[in-house]
Amino acid sequence: MKRTDGFPDDFIWGCATSSYQIEGATHEDGRGVSIWDTFCHTPGKVAEGDTGDIACDSYHRYPEDIALLRELNANAYRFSTAWPRIQPDGSGKPNPKGLAYYDTLVDSLLEAGIEPWMQLYHWDLPQALEDRGGWANRETAFRFQEFAEIMFAHFGDRITHYSSLNEPWCSAYLGYREGVQAPGKRDRVLANRAVHHLLLAHGLAQKSYRATGLSGKFGIVINPGRQRPATARPEDYAAAEIASIESTRIWLDPLYGRGYPALFMQYFGADLPIVDGDMEIIGSPPDFLGVNYYFEHVVKAVPADERNPFGVALADTWHEKTAMGWDIVPEGMLRLLRYIAGNWPVSNLYVTENGAAFDDVPDADGVVHDKDRIEYLRAHLQACRDAIAEGIPLKGYFLWSLLDNFEWAYGYRKRFGIVRLHPETLNRIPKKSFYYYRDVIAGCGL
Ligand code: FCB
Repeated sequence: MKRTDGFPDDFIWGCATSSYQIEGATHEDGRGVSIWDTFCHTPGKVAEGDTGDIACDSYHRYPEDIALLRELNANAYRFSTAWPRIQPDGSGKPNPKGLAYYDTLVDSLLEAGIEPWMQLYHWDLPQALEDRGGWANRETAFRFQEFAEIMFAHFGDRITHYSSLNEPWCSAYLGYREGVQAPGKRDRVLANRAVHHLLLAHGLAQKSYRATGLSGKFGIVINPGRQRPATARPEDYAAAEIASIESTRIWLDPLYGRGYPALFMQYFGADLPIVDGDMEIIGSPPDFLGVNYYFEHVVKAVPADERNPFGVALADTWHEKTAMGWDIVPEGMLRLLRYIAGNWPVSNLYVTENGAAFDDVPDADGVVHDKDRIEYLRAHLQACRDAIAEGIPLKGYFLWSLLDNFEWAYGYRKRFGIVRLHPETLNRIPKKSFYYYRDVIAGCGL
């Protein structure tokens, strides 16, 4: 088929999920405990005491998920591998049953003509590693490299796209500074140490991948921000620049060989456990960059203090919001892609997550008529098309998410799926947005 909708013929159309959010089966086949199991089972951490113990039961029901992807005619599926299924304690010999699960998943996807994009890590760190300090401990970076090497040796013949970490900003800052995600620590120094060790983990794994001689691509997925100034005042413009340091530049500058931003070093350099040679390991550009985009922040300058050393605060906005309370700003996605493509030498960009939660209400047949989600997707896909028209090297789009799933500390009440799960049977019921996305993939326009 020759597309006429403004998207290239070889554009990647995918869906994304993650292991802890969909698999369930947390005690099966030798899987070890992850930091998210611990966090969920700690009272008060997750809304309504929800856990990922069952989730979408995709560990058993993956054939249904693949059938859905097939019906969409998606050409790729970005899923993540649960490290504690492969190495229950985070180190040593792999658990054959864990490998076997992903073998079946990968082989079934390939049989269905869907390219498996393997996200090695999407937040479910083995608890045994957290007990030794988690990402604040340098050793975790080397354990990640070991885990990644297992995955390259075992799956390298079938995986063309590996990505190392998903949203390391969340792992470091939500996990170790804000404490709203696992492991729930609140300590700025630990968070900054985690930043460095996460980057190091990526760099080490990438180095190992390249040493295998495999011909696939190796990348990383981040959730960068290009914050918008609230007013034209120079101080608000400056605040917007500063705000992008933590969300974007502390990740991309080191990855593209520029080291940490000077201002970040000035404030937090003393927290960073940089060892000679680290920045070289980190600073070899990935083959592709995955960008997760949901919304855009608007910021203004405020007086700096100890908790807010950069003097940046969020400002009110006029946008409609999703059920997450996140502004709906499709133009922000274009601005972000432009910012990235204009400031770092990125040759392959993918939107690796984009989507929205709404308070879906099923009709009598159980079907969700999610006009709001369709409009969200339409507008953001339009931004992708505009980006491509401008020459931004955007090569694919992964919708978050295929299924309603476990939305971390929000539990099951925030639903991002284009497929609803029946609350008792867990049967998969496509929402209207599922058919909308199918039409888009078919090349019928937005
Ligand atoms: C991203 C996460 C993903 C999902 C979406 C809504 O930050 O990567 O797992 O929770 O947000």
